[in-house]
Amino acid sequence: MEKIADKMDKIVSLCKRRGFVYPGSDIYGGLANSWDYGPLGVELKNNIKALWWDFFVHKRDDMFGVDAALIMNRKVWQASGHEKGFSDMLVECKKCKKRFRADHVDGKKCPECGGALSEPRQFNTMLKTFLGPVEDETGLTYLRPETAQGMFVNFKNINDSLHPKIPFGLAQIGKAFRNEITPGNFIFRTREFEQMEIEYFIKEGEWEKQFEYWLSEMKKWLRMIGLSDANLTFREVPAEDRAHYSKRTVDIDYNFPFKKDELYGIAYRGDFDLKNHQEASGQDLSYFDEEKKERFIPHVIEPTFGVDRTFLAVLSEHYKEEEVKGEQRVYLSLPPVLAPYKVAVFPLLANKPQLGEKAKTIYENLKQSFMVSWDDIGNIGKRYRRQDEIGTPFCVTVDFETLEDDTVTVRDRDTMKQERMKVGDLTEYFKKHVS
Ligand code: GAP
Repeated sequence: MEKIADKMDKIVSLCKRRGFVYPGSDIYGGLANSWDYGPLGVELKNNIKALWWDFFVHKRDDMFGVDAALIMNRKVWQASGHEKGFSDMLVECKKCKKRFRADHVDGKKCPECGGALSEPRQFNTMLKTFLGPVEDETGLTYLRPETAQGMFVNFKNINDSLHPKIPFGLAQIGKAFRNEITPGNFIFRTREFEQMEIEYFIKEGEWEKQFEYWLSEMKKWLRMIGLSDANLTFREVPAEDRAHYSKRTVDIDYNFPFKKDELYGIAYRGDFDLKNHQEASGQDLSYFDEEKKERFIPHVIEPTFGVDRTFLAVLSEHYKEEEVKGEQRVYLSLPPVLAPYKVAVFPLLANKPQLGEKAKTIYENLKQSFMVSWDDIGNIGKRYRRQDEIGTPFCVTVDFETLEDDTVTVRDRDTMKQERMKVGDLTEYFKKHVS
């Protein structure tokens, strides 16, 4: 059986080799646990975000998008409870001075050098920054540790400008920052990452029903990105482990190659956030129900999704190896909607101008509708392997027959089957199969 570390190493290596993810600040020897998304990675990441936005915002009538500032007034973090309560328990090795999250170490010995560990103490994980020229308390604020607060502080603006009817939700995709004590496992736990979050505003009495409903919407999403049930666990989080604001939380764990760990979460935040912001800001953050003529502070169900963890789960799930005619084939069986390129076009031989010209015309034409890759280097077998490794669902090869009858071969990534097809039918065919 394949070793666990092997699979993770293979994914990290494929990511670097094929332009998905590079070590951050690479030419300077990197910056520990920071990663840059390359040309293929940015396509996959954008496809994840676009699909999420389409499913959770565009396809619904009750969701509104927000793109709030990353740096917010410090008072936001005081009111939300983050300044006081957004902390991890940390232990320090008395010998090598390294710090670890208390819940990430077993026993009282340092996992690195075996030295004795200190008693646990609180460590706030928000990343501090200073606005303006003087680095003192007056300019102190934080890079947001979650996108959620950007939605709560805009609740009144949205209510006043769009007058949505409850229940309704706000959605946001964006960066979040946490001064994690023990980042690691590639892009799984980093200090800078991206979230896709929903704050869904409801009447208090409906919270249990809405919680179940949003959990089932999250399940639909998990199916859309092709994560198999066998790799997913829905874990009820006990009260002592829940975030300071949550009355019920379910974590969705994914079986990552290194271990099973949190992919997403869904929390019932009650009226904690709006109530606190109302108190701290002095602004009325209640909702007026026109039909029932009643005023109340809405309660909130929050489904939250990490973009980078989605990226890693998608790669882990779809990374495949098999033996084909005595040779190893590596391919990403990505759902076509997520694949960086949908189609690749090749001339059978690079040194025959007629084939090249015809293939270029087909390539340019398909580019009007899809992300298309061009490759005329090496033999066809090698080109297929390269496209397999980056998850391109279809390869089109232009050969001498094409010049005679305007047909090409279309090769399927997963089955490797090849089919002869009319050039004029390609756009329709791909439209049907890649979106
Ligand atoms: N607004 C709620 C909230 O932020 P969270 O469970 O702390 O809840 C939500 O974070 C999601 O963000 C996680 O489920 C995970 O996917 C992602 N996430 C959290 N910390 C992360 C980190 N250090 N690196 C990468 N992703 C992270």
